[in-house]
Amino acid sequence: MADYIAIEHSPALFGRLVASGAKNSVLKLMAASLLIEGTTVLQNVPHIADVEIMSQVLQVLGVDVNWTAPHELTLDGHHLTSHTAPYELVAQMRASTAVLGSLSGRCGQARVALPGGCNIGSRKIDMHIAGLEALGAEVRIEHGYINVAAPEGGLRGAEVPLEFPSVGATENLIMAAARAQGTTIIKNAAREPEITDLVTFLQEAGVAIEGAGTSELAITGATAVHEVCHRVIGDRIEAGTFLVAAAMTRGDIEVEGIDPEHLDVVLRKLEMMGAQIERGDDSIRLYGADELKAVDIQTLPYPGFPTDMQAQFMAADAVAEGSSIVTENVFENRFMFADELGRMGADISIEGHYALVKGGTLLSGAPVVSPDLRGGAALVLAGLVAEGTTTVHDIYHIDRGYEDFCDKLASLGARIERCSEPD
Ligand code: UD1
Repeated sequence: MADYIAIEHSPALFGRLVASGAKNSVLKLMAASLLIEGTTVLQNVPHIADVEIMSQVLQVLGVDVNWTAPHELTLDGHHLTSHTAPYELVAQMRASTAVLGSLSGRCGQARVALPGGCNIGSRKIDMHIAGLEALGAEVRIEHGYINVAAPEGGLRGAEVPLEFPSVGATENLIMAAARAQGTTIIKNAAREPEITDLVTFLQEAGVAIEGAGTSELAITGATAVHEVCHRVIGDRIEAGTFLVAAAMTRGDIEVEGIDPEHLDVVLRKLEMMGAQIERGDDSIRLYGADELKAVDIQTLPYPGFPTDMQAQFMAADAVAEGSSIVTENVFENRFMFADELGRMGADISIEGHYALVKGGTLLSGAPVVSPDLRGGAALVLAGLVAEGTTTVHDIYHIDRGYEDFCDKLASLGARIERCSEPD
């Protein structure tokens, strides 16, 4: 039975909800548990499909992974039994490649399937490989696998300049460097809050790291690391998705468990659209405006506008007053959901990595297919303001990264239901 989501035109969203733990943080923290010859406890872990896949990857490597409370995962990495992350799992979730750095750091060897393309672009891995080579590893690509072998005595600290602040490459290099000899300097490092969460986790494990939140990180490898109990940061993209939903429906919601600083540019864009925002210490309240104004968006590495919020804003722009240009600078092929939105009546023309969105459309409910995780969420948001019924299919994409998406929206008053259909 494949599930789908049915959405009716909904009233203004109203109420309060708590953000789940960040998908893009927890997957990397789970990979980092491989560095610890002991137990890692992660709290505020979301129940999402990607966490299950990462658990399977770690189990194949010999980590004992158990839910020890509703949102608490305990990972026992005392005895690793393999250093191979197989294709069947890596193909399901590209973030599995995060074990490349931690396996290389702990075991001195790693064999990880090449992830290949995915539906938002080719997502290359050359910077991860060049970085590991700079730490002294020999890297060979054979039979669809990346094979990493550290020199005798293990990886050695080095200076690694990144040509682009890649999140994945920065994370893999931090993890590899955490158990290398000496100090590694990563220049032009990514600065996403999830990187800072990984740095905090490793500092708690006893790894000396300087420069958290900046584009230059200095990691001094530790020969021994301690067991860690760590609380995952709130999911800024999940929180941002709900805030856009509230803005689109002219609602009034408060999201708790999220640092407003992590969403600064997103909140500014929502203000430019007319919403009023109140930033709390660990919460954000949004009061929607009666008239939503279109805004231009340009995705960039953090602290720029996140690529993971592009689709949700395009859905909002499609129904806002005025025209806007959405520029996707991080990934190719990330406009696929625009065709589905077009089936609901949106006026969007794509030219390379630019999309021209003519707003002011009253969308009409239609059956649509979720092309990827954030595109799927954006189609659900469109369904909230469309006339009639929208059904969003292929929602396994949404399940990868949103915990209880329908229930959370329904708790704010959305007319939404998860349904099953025969295969
Ligand atoms: C990206 C996002 C991150 C988001 C995550 C999940 C950015 C900069 N990164 O991280 O915020 O949380 O998706 O959706 O917004 N690249 C190379 N060679 C490499 C590595 C990357 O050319 O070795 C290119 C990619 O093809 C892509 C860009 O760099 O065009 C960004 O990649 P990267 O930040 O590594 O992607 P993710 O780690 O998946």
